[in-house]
Amino acid sequence: MLSKFEKRAEEILSKMSLKEKIGQLNQLETPVAQNLEQVKEKVRQGLVGSILMCVGATAGNDEQGAIDVNFYNELQRIAVEESPSGIPMIFGRDVIHGHRTVFPIPLAMTASFNTDLIEKSYECIAREAANESVHWTFTPMLDMCRDPRWGRIIEGTGEDPFVGAKVAEAIVKGLQGDDVSKSDRMLSCAKHYIGYGASEGGRDYHRAEISDYSLHNNYLPAFRSAIKAGAKTVMSSFNDINGQPVTSSKYYLTDILRGQLGFDGFVVSDFNAVIQLMRQGVAKTVADCCLLALNAGLDMDMQDNCYIDNLEELVKNGSIDIKVVDEAVKRILKVKLYKGLFENPYCNHIEMDRTKHLEAAYEMASESMVLLKNDNGVLPLKKDAKIALAGPFTYEQRSLLGSWTIDGKAEETEHFYSALKNASKGEIWATSFGGLNWDSTGKAMDWADVIVLALGESWSATGESRAVSDISISENQKDLIRKAKATGKKVVGVFFCGRPIAMQGIAENLDAVIYAWHSGSMTAKAACDILYGDVVPSGKMPVTVPRLATHIPLYYNVTSSGRPVNCYYGENPGACYVDSIPTPYYPFGYGLSYTEFEYENPKAIKEELSLNDLKAGESFKISVCVKNTGNYDGKETVQLYIHDPVASMMRPLRELKAFEKTEILKGEAKNIEFSLGFDDLGYYLSNGEYVVEKGEIEVYIGSNCLAEKMIVLKIS
Ligand code: NOJ
Repeated sequence: MLSKFEKRAEEILSKMSLKEKIGQLNQLETPVAQNLEQVKEKVRQGLVGSILMCVGATAGNDEQGAIDVNFYNELQRIAVEESPSGIPMIFGRDVIHGHRTVFPIPLAMTASFNTDLIEKSYECIAREAANESVHWTFTPMLDMCRDPRWGRIIEGTGEDPFVGAKVAEAIVKGLQGDDVSKSDRMLSCAKHYIGYGASEGGRDYHRAEISDYSLHNNYLPAFRSAIKAGAKTVMSSFNDINGQPVTSSKYYLTDILRGQLGFDGFVVSDFNAVIQLMRQGVAKTVADCCLLALNAGLDMDMQDNCYIDNLEELVKNGSIDIKVVDEAVKRILKVKLYKGLFENPYCNHIEMDRTKHLEAAYEMASESMVLLKNDNGVLPLKKDAKIALAGPFTYEQRSLLGSWTIDGKAEETEHFYSALKNASKGEIWATSFGGLNWDSTGKAMDWADVIVLALGESWSATGESRAVSDISISENQKDLIRKAKATGKKVVGVFFCGRPIAMQGIAENLDAVIYAWHSGSMTAKAACDILYGDVVPSGKMPVTVPRLATHIPLYYNVTSSGRPVNCYYGENPGACYVDSIPTPYYPFGYGLSYTEFEYENPKAIKEELSLNDLKAGESFKISVCVKNTGNYDGKETVQLYIHDPVASMMRPLRELKAFEKTEILKGEAKNIEFSLGFDDLGYYLSNGEYVVEKGEIEVYIGSNCLAEKMIVLKIS
């Protein structure tokens, strides 16, 4: 797609000096008063290709100033009117899950299993951020993660490569639309390529060990999908894989990314990652860092000034071939042309009514929340119920927005007590913490019909550089839950969290559990509407909820060890650890509704197809009837998993291959159809070759990964 800009990029390139070329590869963070004039001068000389619209490496976890559109337009004017080649700069910012209107953290959005809604959400996000000079956002974050101790799990799509690929496509399309050059669209950047989510021990920035087999089947699918959907930029990851820093790896950045995934855009480094190559132990000097990174295929240097300070000399002394520089510059120019920056370099800011965006954020939040427990139908609550509300998230605002919220405002975010008061027709007694003032809290609990606890983890325990060693809630909160339980009243826990928490010892003491996440601007209202049944919950867990943190890693798409110790699917659970049972507390894909769904009559039109038929485009057509047998209209995510019981390589016990979220009215039965073709039934060998093998494929359909086996297909 970028090839149509090749000629124009070459023309521009042919007139550029070496200095200007290197300038295009240079991204600087937003200038501050102290270096403003210096940066303007660099822009004037054509030495800045891009501005990172923030200050600091962990921008999303740090406070940032609001965007001053006039300031960026003025910087751009200098680039366009005063620099030698007049090449516009590209402005990038971490608009991860919202701008001023904040949507749920990406992990929560994934829990909606509603890719249309995710796409629509990112359309709104693009509209708001593009209206404030942002051309390019460093999202989607596609790091598959099986260790929720890692703070950045909140930014991604969880433990499953298939869901990751679907969400990747939705985000890229939502941001870019059909024509990314439109003023209300932003370029996406698929990150962090690759393997960052495998950081050892969940410790941020740590090393990763990933076999090529796992790389192709688990880590690359989301990137493959983002690229197919039109992502033209990729951010390389900080980590090494098997001793090879990605930043300097030709194997990952060129052979696989361009060679196998067909990526034709440009690669930007992560913050200061080029210079980090020295500390990683593969480069002695800054010049070595540049040589390694540029030759590996890393086109733009984020913030660490390595390229701008060293490349000229390296080209002049023959260490770097000018063709390598030219190629990198051309890639960046082509993306700038694709974004339409040469035609429309400036931001024409308009006053924006955000009502529709807030509505979309509410819809997204409502579908993201997961009902994990509802014993004896304690939920939904009656509107006139007398409620004792306690817990540290009663009045909390900032955490509801989640990490990576640069432009959202805590003070504009409704807290849970306020939303509950607005939704209720009964009396509410509230305290931000019960345990500390137990006399009055205890009395209020005795008075109440039901106790609601607002629990969770702070936004600041999540995101970049914010790993935790124990995925739990604080001891105070656990104590509060125990005390509430001891009153004998019904107790509902609403969890405002970024990651799954270990539920043993917590969920048993609650009658109902709503996992409300850090769901953005509309978190509180959405959670209350679920509490009262104005919204019927429909989210599903995109990550396994373990019993104990010590059971990590615990994920559904595990292979069989050949011995009865995997435990995920209940096989011989006592044989794994002698001191605890590591079956999931809530499995992947799990989530309840206020209504009930029954699955029946699974069918495949044909149960046998030849490999040649599949190659020629035929597919297995499978259907199942899903009935709403409860008392509410509701949405169900129908999930189809496969297992290849005999293959050349061990295949996971379950692999999600299709899902459909659909509304089924009470009493209604819906036929859900799926199609499994060549692209769904195979896997990648270690060399990246995709194979579909002859033999049986078991098909499991249901409402989570513990679905029943329904059909056996045969590939002959
Ligand atoms: C470092 C983070 O790893 C990355 O995700 C982010 O986009 C950059 N900083 C820029 O803020």
